[in-house]
Amino acid sequence: MATLHNQDILRADQFNKEEVALIMDTARAFEQDLQGGKVLNTMNGQILASLFLEPSTRTRLSFETAMLRLGGGVVTVADPKTSSAAKGESLHDTIKTVEGYADLIVLRHPQIGAAEQAAAATDKPILNAGDGAGQHPTQSLLDLYTIKKEKGTADGLTITLAGDLKNGRTVHSLVDLLLLFDVKFYFVAPPALRMPAEIVEKLSNKGIEVTETESLEQALAASDVLYMTRIQRERFADPAEYECLKGSYVLNQALLDKAKEGITIMHPLPRVNEIATDIDDYAGAAYFRQAANGIPVRMALLALVVGRA
Ligand code: NCD
Repeated sequence: MATLHNQDILRADQFNKEEVALIMDTARAFEQDLQGGKVLNTMNGQILASLFLEPSTRTRLSFETAMLRLGGGVVTVADPKTSSAAKGESLHDTIKTVEGYADLIVLRHPQIGAAEQAAAATDKPILNAGDGAGQHPTQSLLDLYTIKKEKGTADGLTITLAGDLKNGRTVHSLVDLLLLFDVKFYFVAPPALRMPAEIVEKLSNKGIEVTETESLEQALAASDVLYMTRIQRERFADPAEYECLKGSYVLNQALLDKAKEGITIMHPLPRVNEIATDIDDYAGAAYFRQAANGIPVRMALLALVVGRA
Protein backbone atom coordinates (compact mmCIF):
# COMPACT_ATOMS: atom_id res chain seq x y z
CA MET A 1 0.00 0.00 0.00
CA ALA A 2 1.21 3.51 -0.78
CA THR A 3 2.51 5.50 2.16
CA LEU A 4 4.44 8.73 2.65
CA HIS A 5 5.14 8.08 6.33
CA ASN A 6 8.59 9.43 7.32
CA GLN A 7 9.31 10.54 3.76
CA ASP A 8 10.74 13.86 2.66
CA ILE A 9 8.91 15.75 -0.07
CA LEU A 10 11.79 16.98 -2.22
CA ARG A 11 10.99 16.62 -5.93
CA ALA A 12 7.89 15.97 -8.00
CA ASP A 13 9.51 13.00 -9.74
CA GLN A 14 9.80 11.09 -6.46
CA PHE A 15 6.14 10.00 -6.60
CA ASN A 16 4.57 7.02 -8.27
CA LYS A 17 0.92 6.94 -9.37
CA GLU A 18 -0.28 5.26 -6.16
CA GLU A 19 1.37 7.90 -3.96
CA VAL A 20 -0.13 10.70 -6.04
CA ALA A 21 -3.56 9.07 -5.77
CA LEU A 22 -3.12 8.79 -1.99
CA ILE A 23 -2.28 12.51 -1.73
CA MET A 24 -5.23 13.50 -3.95
CA ASP A 25 -7.69 11.29 -2.02
CA THR A 26 -6.44 12.51 1.36
CA ALA A 27 -6.68 16.14 0.21
CA ARG A 28 -10.23 15.56 -1.04
CA ALA A 29 -11.25 14.11 2.33
CA PHE A 30 -9.73 17.07 4.20
CA GLU A 31 -11.45 19.50 1.85
CA GLN A 32 -14.78 17.85 2.64
CA ASP A 33 -14.03 18.06 6.37
CA LEU A 34 -13.33 21.77 6.05
CA GLN A 35 -16.45 22.36 3.98
CA GLY A 36 -18.46 20.53 6.62
CA GLY A 37 -17.06 22.86 9.28
CA LYS A 38 -15.24 20.05 11.07
CA VAL A 39 -12.60 21.04 13.62
CA LEU A 40 -9.73 18.60 13.25
CA ASN A 41 -7.16 17.42 15.78
CA THR A 42 -5.16 15.23 13.40
CA MET A 43 -1.86 17.02 14.19
CA ASN A 44 -2.44 17.63 17.89
CA GLY A 45 0.86 17.93 19.71
CA GLN A 46 2.89 18.27 16.50
CA ILE A 47 4.90 21.38 15.61
CA LEU A 48 5.75 22.52 12.10
CA ALA A 49 8.79 24.75 11.55
CA SER A 50 8.32 26.87 8.47
CA LEU A 51 11.63 28.30 7.28
CA PHE A 52 11.24 30.71 4.38
CA LEU A 53 14.61 32.10 3.33
CA GLU A 54 13.07 33.57 0.16
CA PRO A 55 9.92 35.70 -0.25
CA SER A 56 6.55 33.95 -0.12
CA THR A 57 2.92 34.70 0.59
CA ARG A 58 0.81 31.74 -0.53
CA THR A 59 3.15 28.86 0.15
CA ARG A 60 4.05 29.90 3.68
CA LEU A 61 0.59 31.01 4.71
CA SER A 62 -1.09 27.97 3.22
CA PHE A 63 1.34 25.54 4.90
CA GLU A 64 0.84 27.31 8.22
CA THR A 65 -2.94 27.49 7.77
CA ALA A 66 -2.98 23.80 6.84
CA MET A 67 -1.09 22.92 10.02
CA LEU A 68 -3.38 25.07 12.18
CA ARG A 69 -6.49 23.57 10.53
CA LEU A 70 -5.14 20.15 11.53
CA GLY A 71 -4.83 21.25 15.14
CA GLY A 72 -1.01 21.47 15.08
CA GLY A 73 1.32 24.30 16.04
CA VAL A 74 3.66 26.42 13.92
CA VAL A 75 6.95 28.24 14.45
CA THR A 76 8.15 30.34 11.58
CA VAL A 77 10.95 32.29 9.96
CA ALA A 78 9.25 34.50 7.42
CA ASP A 79 12.06 36.90 6.67
CA PRO A 80 15.58 35.64 5.93
CA LYS A 81 17.01 38.90 7.28
CA THR A 82 15.72 38.01 10.76
CA SER A 83 17.16 34.47 10.78
CA SER A 84 20.69 33.38 11.68
CA ALA A 85 21.26 32.55 8.01
CA ALA A 86 21.86 36.30 7.77
CA LYS A 87 24.70 35.89 10.31
CA GLY A 88 26.34 33.28 8.10
CA GLU A 89 24.94 30.11 9.69
CA SER A 90 25.07 27.09 7.38
CA LEU A 91 21.86 25.42 6.28
CA HIS A 92 23.10 22.23 7.96
CA ASP A 93 23.43 23.95 11.33
CA THR A 94 20.06 25.69 11.00
CA ILE A 95 18.35 22.37 10.29
CA LYS A 96 20.22 20.55 13.12
CA THR A 97 18.95 23.24 15.48
CA VAL A 98 15.37 23.34 14.22
CA GLU A 99 15.04 19.54 14.35
CA GLY A 100 15.34 19.96 18.11
CA TYR A 101 12.25 22.19 18.13
CA ALA A 102 9.85 20.81 15.55
CA ASP A 103 8.42 17.52 14.25
CA LEU A 104 8.57 18.48 10.58
CA ILE A 105 10.17 21.26 8.56
CA VAL A 106 9.02 23.19 5.50
CA LEU A 107 11.91 24.93 3.73
CA ARG A 108 12.09 27.55 1.01
CA HIS A 109 15.62 28.45 0.00
CA PRO A 110 17.26 30.36 -2.89
CA GLN A 111 19.64 27.54 -3.86
CA ILE A 112 18.87 24.57 -6.08
CA GLY A 113 19.33 21.38 -4.06
CA ALA A 114 18.88 23.05 -0.65
CA ALA A 115 15.99 20.78 0.32
CA GLU A 116 18.09 17.66 -0.38
CA GLN A 117 20.89 19.13 1.76
CA ALA A 118 18.44 19.80 4.57
CA ALA A 119 17.04 16.28 4.31
CA ALA A 120 20.56 14.86 4.63
CA ALA A 121 21.00 16.77 7.89
CA THR A 122 17.93 15.41 9.72
CA ASP A 123 15.64 12.42 10.07
CA LYS A 124 12.63 14.71 10.53
CA PRO A 125 10.53 15.10 7.36
CA ILE A 126 11.60 17.99 5.10
CA LEU A 127 9.05 19.46 2.70
CA ASN A 128 10.59 21.45 -0.15
CA ALA A 129 8.64 24.69 -0.57
CA GLY A 130 10.87 25.83 -3.45
CA ASP A 131 14.65 25.56 -3.92
CA GLY A 132 15.79 28.38 -6.19
CA ALA A 133 15.07 27.61 -9.83
CA GLY A 134 14.92 23.89 -8.98
CA GLN A 135 11.72 22.23 -7.77
CA HIS A 136 8.45 23.10 -6.05
CA PRO A 137 6.75 19.73 -5.60
CA THR A 138 3.95 20.77 -3.23
CA GLN A 139 2.88 23.44 -5.73
CA SER A 140 2.64 20.89 -8.53
CA LEU A 141 0.54 18.59 -6.36
CA LEU A 142 -1.92 21.42 -5.78
CA ASP A 143 -1.73 22.22 -9.49
CA LEU A 144 -2.66 18.63 -10.32
CA TYR A 145 -5.45 18.71 -7.71
CA THR A 146 -6.73 21.86 -9.43
CA ILE A 147 -6.56 20.32 -12.91
CA LYS A 148 -8.54 17.30 -11.67
CA LYS A 149 -11.12 19.51 -9.98
CA GLU A 150 -11.53 21.83 -12.94
CA LYS A 151 -11.35 19.21 -15.71
CA GLY A 152 -12.33 15.92 -14.03
CA THR A 153 -9.07 14.23 -15.05
CA ALA A 154 -5.60 15.09 -16.30
CA ASP A 155 -5.57 12.27 -18.85
CA GLY A 156 -6.17 13.28 -22.44
CA LEU A 157 -5.49 16.97 -21.85
CA THR A 158 -3.31 19.33 -23.86
CA ILE A 159 -1.53 21.64 -21.44
CA THR A 160 0.38 24.81 -22.29
CA LEU A 161 3.11 26.02 -19.97
CA ALA A 162 3.99 29.63 -20.78
CA GLY A 163 6.43 32.27 -19.57
CA ASP A 164 9.73 31.70 -17.79
CA LEU A 165 10.19 27.99 -18.35
CA LYS A 166 13.93 28.21 -17.72
CA ASN A 167 13.82 29.58 -14.18
CA GLY A 168 10.30 28.65 -13.06
CA ARG A 169 10.48 25.84 -10.52
CA THR A 170 6.71 25.35 -10.60
CA VAL A 171 6.78 24.29 -14.26
CA HIS A 172 9.78 22.01 -13.72
CA SER A 173 7.92 20.14 -11.00
CA LEU A 174 4.60 20.16 -12.86
CA VAL A 175 6.14 18.49 -15.91
CA ASP A 176 7.65 15.80 -13.67
CA LEU A 177 4.30 15.11 -12.04
CA LEU A 178 2.29 15.11 -15.26
CA LEU A 179 4.68 12.51 -16.70
CA LEU A 180 2.50 10.04 -14.79
CA PHE A 181 -0.49 11.00 -16.96
CA ASP A 182 -1.45 10.90 -20.61
CA VAL A 183 -0.97 14.58 -21.52
CA LYS A 184 0.37 16.61 -24.44
CA PHE A 185 2.38 19.78 -23.88
CA TYR A 186 2.97 23.11 -25.54
CA PHE A 187 5.94 25.00 -24.10
CA VAL A 188 5.67 28.72 -24.90
CA ALA A 189 8.68 30.87 -24.01
CA PRO A 190 11.03 33.45 -25.50
CA PRO A 191 14.26 31.79 -26.77
CA ALA A 192 16.23 32.92 -23.71
CA LEU A 193 13.74 31.35 -21.28
CA ARG A 194 13.04 27.97 -22.88
CA MET A 195 12.42 24.82 -20.85
CA PRO A 196 15.77 23.23 -19.91
CA ALA A 197 16.85 20.76 -22.61
CA GLU A 198 17.13 17.84 -20.17
CA ILE A 199 13.45 18.20 -19.26
CA VAL A 200 12.37 18.31 -22.93
CA GLU A 201 14.55 15.27 -23.57
CA LYS A 202 13.05 13.38 -20.64
CA LEU A 203 9.61 13.92 -22.16
CA SER A 204 10.56 12.83 -25.64
CA ASN A 205 12.26 9.71 -24.22
CA LYS A 206 8.92 8.84 -22.63
CA GLY A 207 7.13 9.40 -25.94
CA ILE A 208 5.21 12.43 -24.66
CA GLU A 209 4.28 14.93 -27.37
CA VAL A 210 5.80 18.37 -26.82
CA THR A 211 5.52 21.38 -29.12
CA GLU A 212 7.91 24.23 -28.35
CA THR A 213 6.82 27.55 -29.79
CA GLU A 214 7.10 31.28 -29.19
CA SER A 215 3.46 31.76 -30.19
CA LEU A 216 1.03 31.77 -27.29
CA GLU A 217 -1.81 32.24 -29.76
CA GLN A 218 -0.96 28.99 -31.60
CA ALA A 219 -0.81 27.05 -28.34
CA LEU A 220 -4.04 28.50 -26.93
CA ALA A 221 -6.10 27.34 -29.89
CA ALA A 222 -5.18 23.72 -29.09
CA SER A 223 -5.05 23.75 -25.27
CA ASP A 224 -7.39 22.61 -22.51
CA VAL A 225 -5.29 24.28 -19.83
CA LEU A 226 -3.00 27.30 -19.92
CA TYR A 227 -0.48 27.44 -17.05
CA MET A 228 0.91 30.97 -17.11
CA THR A 229 4.03 31.94 -15.16
CA ARG A 230 5.84 35.08 -14.05
CA ILE A 231 9.21 36.01 -15.52
CA GLN A 232 11.42 35.22 -12.51
CA ARG A 233 13.13 38.57 -11.98
CA GLU A 234 15.16 37.37 -8.96
CA ARG A 235 16.97 34.78 -11.13
CA PHE A 236 18.38 37.35 -13.61
CA ALA A 237 22.00 38.44 -13.16
CA ASP A 238 21.41 41.36 -15.55
CA PRO A 239 18.42 43.61 -14.72
CA ALA A 240 18.43 44.92 -18.33
CA GLU A 241 17.73 41.41 -19.61
CA TYR A 242 14.76 41.14 -17.28
CA GLU A 243 13.44 44.49 -18.53
CA CYS A 244 13.64 43.18 -22.10
CA LEU A 245 11.77 39.98 -21.33
CA LYS A 246 9.25 40.96 -18.66
CA GLY A 247 6.43 41.77 -21.05
CA SER A 248 6.95 38.71 -23.27
CA TYR A 249 3.47 37.27 -22.80
CA VAL A 250 0.31 38.91 -21.55
CA LEU A 251 -2.97 37.04 -21.63
CA ASN A 252 -5.67 39.57 -22.44
CA GLN A 253 -9.24 39.26 -23.66
CA ALA A 254 -8.24 39.46 -27.35
CA LEU A 255 -5.95 36.44 -26.91
CA LEU A 256 -8.46 34.56 -24.78
CA ASP A 257 -11.01 35.00 -27.59
CA LYS A 258 -8.71 32.90 -29.79
CA ALA A 259 -8.34 30.11 -27.23
CA LYS A 260 -10.06 26.74 -27.24
CA GLU A 261 -13.58 26.95 -25.84
CA GLY A 262 -13.67 26.30 -22.09
CA ILE A 263 -9.92 26.63 -21.56
CA THR A 264 -8.83 26.64 -17.90
CA ILE A 265 -6.38 29.39 -16.97
CA MET A 266 -3.95 28.64 -14.15
CA HIS A 267 -1.06 30.56 -12.57
CA PRO A 268 0.93 29.69 -9.43
CA LEU A 269 0.85 33.41 -8.55
CA PRO A 270 2.08 36.00 -7.80
CA ARG A 271 1.08 37.58 -11.11
CA VAL A 272 2.93 40.65 -12.26
CA ASN A 273 1.39 41.53 -15.62
CA GLU A 274 1.07 38.16 -17.40
CA ILE A 275 -2.70 37.99 -17.04
CA ALA A 276 -4.84 41.11 -17.50
CA THR A 277 -7.10 41.59 -14.50
CA ASP A 278 -10.27 41.58 -16.63
CA ILE A 279 -9.60 37.87 -17.28
CA ASP A 280 -10.40 37.28 -13.59
CA ASP A 281 -14.14 37.38 -14.44
CA TYR A 282 -13.82 34.57 -16.99
CA ALA A 283 -15.38 31.38 -15.56
CA GLY A 284 -12.32 29.30 -16.50
CA ALA A 285 -9.91 31.62 -14.64
CA ALA A 286 -8.91 29.16 -11.92
CA TYR A 287 -5.85 30.81 -10.34
CA PHE A 288 -7.44 31.97 -7.10
CA ARG A 289 -9.26 28.64 -6.71
CA GLN A 290 -5.86 27.03 -7.38
CA ALA A 291 -4.29 29.03 -4.52
CA ALA A 292 -7.11 27.95 -2.19
CA ASN A 293 -6.50 24.31 -3.12
CA GLY A 294 -3.11 24.67 -1.42
CA ILE A 295 -4.82 24.20 1.94
CA PRO A 296 -6.26 20.67 1.57
CA VAL A 297 -3.27 19.46 -0.45
CA ARG A 298 -0.77 20.71 2.14
CA MET A 299 -2.94 19.33 4.96
CA ALA A 300 -2.69 15.96 3.23
CA LEU A 301 1.09 16.18 2.87
CA LEU A 302 1.66 17.23 6.48
CA ALA A 303 -0.57 14.50 7.90
CA LEU A 304 0.78 11.80 5.58
CA VAL A 305 4.48 12.36 6.30
CA VAL A 306 3.94 12.00 10.05
CA GLY A 307 1.70 8.97 9.57
CA ARG A 308 -1.50 10.60 10.78
CA ALA A 309 -3.65 10.29 7.65
C1 NCD B 1 5.83 30.39 -7.22
C2 NCD B 1 7.21 30.17 -6.64
O1 NCD B 1 7.53 30.66 -5.56
O2 NCD B 1 7.96 29.47 -7.30
N1 NCD B 1 4.95 30.94 -6.28
C3 NCD B 1 4.28 30.09 -5.46
O3 NCD B 1 4.86 29.34 -4.70
N2 NCD B 1 2.95 30.05 -5.58
C4 NCD B 1 5.83 31.10 -8.51
C5 NCD B 1 6.53 32.41 -8.62
O4 NCD B 1 7.09 32.94 -7.65
O5 NCD B 1 6.51 32.95 -9.73
